[in-house]
Amino acid sequence: MEPSEAPLDPAQCVVLHGCAEELLPRVPSESVRLTLTDPPYNVSRPNNFQTMGRTGIDFDWDGDFDQLSWLEEAARALVPGGSIVIWNDRKNLGDLARALASLGFSVKAKLTWSKRNPMPRNRGRSFVPREEHGLWAVKVKPRRK
Ligand SMILES: C[S@@+](CC[C@H](N)C(=O)[O-])C[C@H]1O[C@@H](n2cnc3c(N)ncnc32)[C@H](O)[C@@H]1O
Repeated sequence: MEPSEAPLDPAQCVVLHGCAEELLPRVPSESVRLTLTDPPYNVSRPNNFQTMGRTGIDFDWDGDFDQLSWLEEAARALVPGGSIVIWNDRKNLGDLARALASLGFSVKAKLTWSKRNPMPRNRGRSFVPREEHGLWAVKVKPRRK
């Protein structure tokens, strides 16, 4: 599939709403040009952030999320030369980068989104990072012979 500059036709756009692991197998192979995702980060844990007037980070969908198992299906769906951007906790980026490389991706860049509303930490006892972290990788095209 070649990149197109043609405007998107809303009549041809489809929104699939549901569990990614169940829906991804329905996406045709080499049909996606950009996968942009912000999956669970495995950062949930009991906390007392409410004492700071903030809601906590303790979600039932976060703790056991498997960071790597969905990548193979996502790779299959992507066109050669297509991009994947994965936002995640900084601690998971190394595992994600290695998994992407083993699936035939070239990991291009570590992305940083600086923001003003960081995830709360216990002030006075920890640094408070004001960034979100992501990886940008491109599915390598097979070499022409
Ligand atoms: C880090 S949050 C991303 C939030 C998103 N960026 C937003 O602004 O709403 C992860 C999201 O993934 C969703 N999620 C968790 N497991 C999922 C799954 N198996 N398939 C699809 N979405 C899932 C959660 O409900 C949550 O909204």
